[in-house]
Formats: sequence, structure tokens, C-alpha cells
Amino acid sequence: MTDLFRDKAADWDTRPVPVQISEGVFAALASNIALDPSLTVMDFGAGTGLVATKLAPRVAKVIAVDVSPAMLAQLAAKPELAGKAEIVCQDLLAAPLGRTVDLVVSAMAMHHVADTRALLRTLFAHLAPGGRIALADLDTEDGTFHPPATEGVFHHGFDRAALRAELVEIGFSDVRFVTACEIERDGRRYPVFLATALRPA
Ligand SMILES: C[S@@+](CC[C@H](N)C(=O)[O-])C[C@H]1O[C@@H](n2cnc3c(N)ncnc32)[C@H](O)[C@@H]1O
Repeated sequence: MTDLFRDKAADWDTRPVPVQISEGVFAALASNIALDPSLTVMDFGAGTGLVATKLAPRVAKVIAVDVSPAMLAQLAAKPELAGKAEIVCQDLLAAPLGRTVDLVVSAMAMHHVADTRALLRTLFAHLAPGGRIALADLDTEDGTFHPPATEGVFHHGFDRAALRAELVEIGFSDVRFVTACEIERDGRRYPVFLATALRPA
């Protein structure tokens, strides 16, 4: 598989937009999910660990899942994640973990997966009963968030009502949306939502 983030990994953590989003997403996560030192958390599309490093001190363990070896190499080098993160370079849709977690978080990875329904089903299957998801991504946008012809972008954001309906159909309950942050660029505004939902026990 081509690593679409190979050339972005080295300076990812210095880019203002990912930094702003990770801060907004973590703040929304901490306000809307009961983080607890007993939790095993999967960070789907963890990248360089911008969210995982904030999450790690509040939970037992973070399983950092991504398909980009370059992004995960940056994550693996972070001392604050040593002994706290398990790194999994794997496409979960093709090769599930084979175990469950208490919480799945994800920031800005969903729009890189073509089949959203298959992804949501996969995440549901990776949750222990009573577990939750907390998924952040762009609200529906006009296609200007990424530079033209960026490879691997399958969705120009998501419609909250449609995503809610998919989550409910898959079996999630207690579906809630909050706005985690809003990116302003070139006179345009790009809100980022955090969707939380429960896999019923
Ligand atoms: C926009 S970056 C966000 C990274 C990180 N969550 C952050 O907030 O900085 C999207 C990440 O999703 C990863 N990704 C794309 N498709 C994926 C897939 N099928 N499974 C796991 N990760 C994927 C990319 O490799 C990349 O690291």
C-alpha cells in the first residue's frame, strides 16, 4: 500500500491546522467522554499521535492504528507514549485486531476511508459491549479543505444527520454531536464535529 502521508509525516506536528484540530478534538473528548485510567483506547488513524499523546496520561493504554508507516514512526519516537502506546500498522477493514477495546477515538481519518459504513461496522465490532466511539471529522464542506487532487480523500466531510442514521442502523445508541473546533482559512470556515455513541451492553 502506498504511504500517502510519507511526505507529510516529518513536519505534521508543526502544521497549525492538525495542531488546532487535535487540541479542539481532545478538549471535546475530555468534556464528553468519561476518561478513566482503566480504559483501553484505540486511536484509529492515529497519525503522529497528536491526540494519543494528550489521551495517554488519562487512560490505561492507547492502541495507535494507522496505515502510514511514516506517521507511526513519528508517533513511536515520542517519549510520552513509551510504555503507553501499542502501535499497529494495519488496515482494520482487511485485518481486524481480533480483540476489543473500551473506546475508539479518531481525528480526521474517516474521510480517508472510502466505505464509511464498513468502517463504522468494523469499529463497532472492535468495541466491547458498553464501549464508546468518539469520531471527529469535517462537517460537509465544498471540497476546498484539501488541495485539489489530494490522493486518498474520499469524502468532503460528512452530513451529521446521515452519519447519525448510519450509526443507529449499525446498532449504536446515545449518538451525540458537538462542534469540536472550527478552522478558518481563506475566508472559509470548516467546522469539525465530534460524534460520540455507545455500543449497548
Ligand atoms: C489527516 S491524518 C490525521 C492524523 C491524526 N489523527 C491527527 O489528528 O493528527 C489521517 C490519518 O489517517 C490515516 N489513515 C488513512 N486511511 C486509514 C485506514 N484505512 N486505516 C487507518 N488509518 C488510516 C492516515 O495514514 C493518516 O495518518
